[in-house]
Amino acid sequence: MNKFSSKLLLVFLLSSVFSCQKKEIVSQKEKNYESKIDSILKLMTLEEKVGQMNQYNGFWDATGPTPKEGQAAIKYEHLKKGLVGSMLNVKGVKEVRALQKIAVEETRLGIPLLFGFDVVHGYKTISPIPLAEAASWDLEAIKKSAEIAAAEAAATGLNWTFAPMVDISRDARWGRVMEGAGEDPYLGSQIAMARVQGFQGNDLSNEFTLAACAKHFAAYGFAEAGRDYNTVDISHNTLHNVILPPFKATVDAGVRTFMNSFNELDGIPATGNIHLQKEILKNEWKFDGFIVSDWGSMGEMIAHGYAEDLKDAALKAANAGSDMDMESSGYVAHLVTLVKENKVKESDIDEAVRRILRIKFELGLFENPYKYCDEEREAATIGKTEFHEGVLDMAKKSIVLLKNQKNLLPLAKEGQKIAVIGALADDKTSPLGSWRIGADDNTAVSVLEGLKNYPGNTVVYEKGADVALGEPKFTKETKINTTDKSGFPKAVQAAKNADVVVMVLGEHGLQSGEGRSRTDLGLPGVQQELLEAVFNVNPNIVLVLANGRPLTIEWADQNIPAILETWQLGTQSGHAIAQVLYGDYNPSGKLPMTFPRNVGQVPIYYNYKNTGRPVPNEPESVFWSHYIDSENTPLYPFGHGLSYTTFSYSNLSLDSKSFTKNGKITVSFDLKNTGNVDGKEVAQLYIRDIVASVTRPVRELKGFELVSLKAGETKRISFTIDEKTIAFYSANQKWEAEPGNFKLFIGGSSYTSLETDFKFN
Ligand code: BGC
Repeated sequence: MNKFSSKLLLVFLLSSVFSCQKKEIVSQKEKNYESKIDSILKLMTLEEKVGQMNQYNGFWDATGPTPKEGQAAIKYEHLKKGLVGSMLNVKGVKEVRALQKIAVEETRLGIPLLFGFDVVHGYKTISPIPLAEAASWDLEAIKKSAEIAAAEAAATGLNWTFAPMVDISRDARWGRVMEGAGEDPYLGSQIAMARVQGFQGNDLSNEFTLAACAKHFAAYGFAEAGRDYNTVDISHNTLHNVILPPFKATVDAGVRTFMNSFNELDGIPATGNIHLQKEILKNEWKFDGFIVSDWGSMGEMIAHGYAEDLKDAALKAANAGSDMDMESSGYVAHLVTLVKENKVKESDIDEAVRRILRIKFELGLFENPYKYCDEEREAATIGKTEFHEGVLDMAKKSIVLLKNQKNLLPLAKEGQKIAVIGALADDKTSPLGSWRIGADDNTAVSVLEGLKNYPGNTVVYEKGADVALGEPKFTKETKINTTDKSGFPKAVQAAKNADVVVMVLGEHGLQSGEGRSRTDLGLPGVQQELLEAVFNVNPNIVLVLANGRPLTIEWADQNIPAILETWQLGTQSGHAIAQVLYGDYNPSGKLPMTFPRNVGQVPIYYNYKNTGRPVPNEPESVFWSHYIDSENTPLYPFGHGLSYTTFSYSNLSLDSKSFTKNGKITVSFDLKNTGNVDGKEVAQLYIRDIVASVTRPVRELKGFELVSLKAGETKRISFTIDEKTIAFYSANQKWEAEPGNFKLFIGGSSYTSLETDFKFN
């Protein structure tokens, strides 16, 4: 009998009896591991329990020599003593196996480790950044993309992803908007569920799935002034009506873990926040997975001025229901003492450990701790052709056609001279975006490479200018953009001689993401000047935007005939862009986030409140809610996106003008493809609650459908409206539908004007 089986003998006996009895059970929800967890808890010392609540970053080359001194040596000793429950950022089966072996074979109880990683939009084969995927409004495609990410990552030994990020944000200055689904709670909730289902599948013990993690709980996306990690100060109303719905949706979809956040809420850092973690998430929503802290967020409560020292921080985090400590070492250092001092109840520790062990059981780690560790499978899985096909499909679906005057797009395939300008056209790294730590630099298909598939035209490339100096990884260089304009003359010359100019401009792949807040949302560096210089000699420009957040491109909107938003589309980026430029794929993306005209408008979002002084009847009035130097309206509204065909909405009707409790009404309309090519349109339903116990937004998305229509085809589309559709967090501090009058809007963006009204009695 080897060490592994002797250590976990009891657990295994229980486990096999259990699995014989329950073989037929597939759904993880139905599995009941509680009696086994009871047995393990009985075997554990207090130190070992606290160990399960401790997570360390991958700290040394596990397959190399054992660390002798420093942090790594301490962590290694902790690992051997069973004082580590999970590790993050460990790459590849070899490393994972080596660490798992220590946990399973060298610790007293042999409890397997969880291996977490930020598989945010792919592991090695990278799909579009999450904000881009959200622009597809295609829930099936988004789910599939998460499935691909999980299958590839799980083959490298991982069993847990720190995704999806479901933070709603209305502030494009915040670099992490690239990681979420945009500004809307309804769209955000649908996408959050799709991502959880994609990562986790129906059965967590399946070795192609990962446990998902809804983050960052909560309100992290509302950092003041869009500055990452900054103070959050929002109302209860916003918390419940805007921020919490996507989190609740992940619980409904069965997400197994949550991550708390760096920010404070109501003066209390999320990691020490009882209201969020215990009252809302665990008690009200009955979430039975576990909560991991964000990186070092427990220790950061000291800087927040909420904890005196790390011991105090551990006390506050534990009592607030934060189950696992990521990289603060607060629990491992102080929790045993805190229990002995009767400041933390051992029963609370048991509860946290129970939650963590539950997920380990559900993942099947007690049956086989090495189930994700198969080097042959790893080699055969990474970069599979079907993954590349999948991320290409997702990339095409994520592109948004913002403007297309005189049908400049799609480009003709033959006989054209095309000048391609911009450093990002030749960039094989930026399309991977932020959060792609499993992927290698220079592995994305560039725009220039994608265009090579269309040899009927002549392509001349000129960089013109850089986006940013050097690789702005973790340095101040993120803020420094080149002022070098020496490439302008060649770019201008190339444009002069071309029929069409394709300018690929935007942000470097690491100019958005964590810690990458910006105060200027224009094209970085001298790219705007480059655009204007080229425009002066040839206005026939297709602007291909590559960026991780909405940008302020008002000049381009006024002057450039065609603008294509391509975000950061991942490994297959260049192919997706080329296929859309040439019309082999008809774009159907819609913005998941409002594009402001200028930074002064931020935060700007479509579901704003009317205020007491909305647009006045007398236009000369000054005393209404507006700017004297800018429009109130955005440059491009939420839900906006064009196609190579056109669509019309008509014959809007309701089967009844009112409904009562437990009732419903159906709204129907004709959607017609009025152009000459087949296309897809996202039909959107918005409502407005005219009077309520708390003020309600002027419009709220309440349904959408991605509809495929052949050229000339008409389809009748319907949405059902019931109490759930109109419910909100009311003055009674609960979700309810209030009687009254409602407006309803149907169309292809949040600015649609086709409307009717109904009543809820
Ligand atoms: C981020 C998290 C991430 C964690 C681990 C933190 O800085 O806020 O979203 O999961 O690091 O990489």
